[in-house]
Amino acid sequence: MARSETQRSSPSWRLWGLLAAVIGVIAAVLAIHNQAMIARTMMALSAIDDPLERFNLEQFKLEKLLPRELQDHIDNLITRTGKWTETLDFQVGRQLAEDGAKADMPVILLPGVITTGLESWTTTDSELVYFRRRLWGSMAMVRSALFNRDEWVRHLMLDPVTGLDPEGIRVRAAKGLDAASYFAAGYWVWSKIIENLAAVGYDINQIYLAGYDWRLSMSNLQVRDHFYSELKSRIQLNKEIFGKKTVLISHSMGGTVGFYFLKWAEHNLGARWVDDHIDSFVNIAGTMLGLPKAMAALMTGEMRDTVQVPSMLSYLLERHFSSQERAQLFRSWAGSASMLLKGGNDVWGDETGAPDDFDNATSTHGVLMSYADRPGLNASEGGRRLTVDEANPWLRMHTPKEFQEMLHTNYSHGIERNPKQLKKNNADPTKWVNPLEVPLPNAPNMKVYCVYGYNQPTERSYWMRDMSSVNPQSQYDMADIPATWTSVNQTSPVVPPLSRIDASVNRDEVPEVSAGCRLGEGDGTVSLLSLGAMCVEGWKLPRYNPAKIPIITHEVHHDPEAFDLRGGTSSGDHIDILGSHALNRVVVNVAAGRGHLVEENILSPIKKYAAKIKW
Ligand SMILES: *[C@@H]1O[C@H](CO)[C@@H](O)[C@H](O)[C@H]1NC(C)=O
Ligand SMILES: *[C@@H]1O[C@H](CO)[C@@H](O)[C@H](O)[C@H]1NC(C)=O
Ligand SMILES: *[C@@H]1O[C@H](CO)[C@@H](O)[C@H](O)[C@H]1NC(C)=O
Ligand SMILES: *[C@@H]1O[C@H](CO)[C@@H](O)[C@H](O)[C@H]1NC(C)=O
Repeated sequence: MARSETQRSSPSWRLWGLLAAVIGVIAAVLAIHNQAMIARTMMALSAIDDPLERFNLEQFKLEKLLPRELQDHIDNLITRTGKWTETLDFQVGRQLAEDGAKADMPVILLPGVITTGLESWTTTDSELVYFRRRLWGSMAMVRSALFNRDEWVRHLMLDPVTGLDPEGIRVRAAKGLDAASYFAAGYWVWSKIIENLAAVGYDINQIYLAGYDWRLSMSNLQVRDHFYSELKSRIQLNKEIFGKKTVLISHSMGGTVGFYFLKWAEHNLGARWVDDHIDSFVNIAGTMLGLPKAMAALMTGEMRDTVQVPSMLSYLLERHFSSQERAQLFRSWAGSASMLLKGGNDVWGDETGAPDDFDNATSTHGVLMSYADRPGLNASEGGRRLTVDEANPWLRMHTPKEFQEMLHTNYSHGIERNPKQLKKNNADPTKWVNPLEVPLPNAPNMKVYCVYGYNQPTERSYWMRDMSSVNPQSQYDMADIPATWTSVNQTSPVVPPLSRIDASVNRDEVPEVSAGCRLGEGDGTVSLLSLGAMCVEGWKLPRYNPAKIPIITHEVHHDPEAFDLRGGTSSGDHIDILGSHALNRVVVNVAAGRGHLVEENILSPIKKYAAKIKW
């Protein structure tokens, strides 16, 4: 401890500032979510205990790297850090324990995208410094991204053809509870849930955090890491040791992975396996029908989490990673494509309206991407309007061949209504990410709980700008792209993103437009339709839920505490909900075999919206 104190005091505030900025940049690139995140990650710096001696201060001219404005901002934040280590909180668990809750069923936690740490297992001499260090989800990540940017990217980018590590590189998901308890030091993810479970008597034997390499496609998770086999073994072991079924608790993209696993299990382990082994599936803030953000990110390389981010941060973002670079990185992560929008226009609407449009709307979310008319722009280019059904082929046309092939062989994003075909789809792994193309498993004794936050503006549709017609060469010149970034073997040239989110559009409209994003409802990251439509309506239809599995929807009203950057105990935010009391109560009760205490709680207009979907 003393050692880390001295380390902590040696670098100047300036260095901290630089670090903070870079974490901020990366955080934005990752799009964990909004503006608050940047502040939070900066706060997280207070709890860092990675050695810092390796920094060579002389290398930098900080003034050149950081705009003055940002330096001031950071200084401000860093002076109020103390509170950030006081994250331990067993309150909900203790209350429930008093109330009689006891550890009962073993639980498996399935994290969302980007929250599992990734470590290097590369052993070549030049990479040894990274051996078993986290390239993702730690301070080492910041260091690598900052000092060895190209190397860092080379490690994290997957081969576009195989979807696996490029030659000579091995990066693997971290294991154990620590893989995703905290993202970087001080930024909690699963730790609150673990604490509350512990308070009613759970320990490491009954809690298993199933970290996975979220960059991989669902099928490659099995091919490379035997992920589903491992989950299966663990669940069977649970039954053997404790004589109990397992409670599967997923967050965000973990919901998609969990659903895929249930279908995989049904297909490979027999029709009864799920019913015999899984007690409940707690789907927290699940990305069941995909998210508009994923669409935009794969198309443009932009994550408009940066929407609300201060301009100086966008500036840094632009400096460190160009949108081509980001697009190439995102596209190599086949896992992220599992979150493309599902169900097409029948779910997401069209020119004539979308299920989740406000009554007073002056423009519809049904047009996912609108290109603004601009003076001087070739008229045939401006005014393009893409619904989801049009955006999908458009995405395929404007991305490299390898990406198209990956999409085609791994995923399906449609909607199927014929029960016979739905049954056939059970044998088709490309359908297993899509609850509209395969039914829930035939597990009449299982329960599904959908828990998610509501009442945060969430990007839902976009104003776009076609870059090819504005300035075909200068800004998107291929020469901008470092050689190490081109596809791993230079088999295909990088296709520059031809569109960008048009951040200059800030119109006075309903829905509200902010820096090119039309805001809808949701938890700040995932749209309400994706969070809730399957839960309140889709899975009530016999064709998507033939076993009549009970589905309980429990919304958490986002009502953040002003003094707490993570929103405190009443946050419904996409990630912060993992620390909210309402959610922890649901999780502990379900695990403790008191699921009957979890009440349906619907505050949003999701039922009204879901009823308008063309099921
Ligand atoms: C999924 O895509 C990867 C490329 O990312 C490819 O190697 C793999 O064969 C595809 N999976 C299937 C089942 O085709
Ligand atoms: C439009 O309707 C929504 C919800 O009904 C409301 O919150 C919003 O304030 C309205 N906007 C305007 C400009 O009237
Ligand atoms: C506008 O675009 C169309 C098709 O892309 C092209 O045929 C036409 O020549 C362009 N006109 C101008 C003035 O650039
Ligand atoms: C890819 O790169 C490796 C090593 O650099 C080389 O041996 C291999 O022939 C290359 N493959 C293709 C298709 O160019």
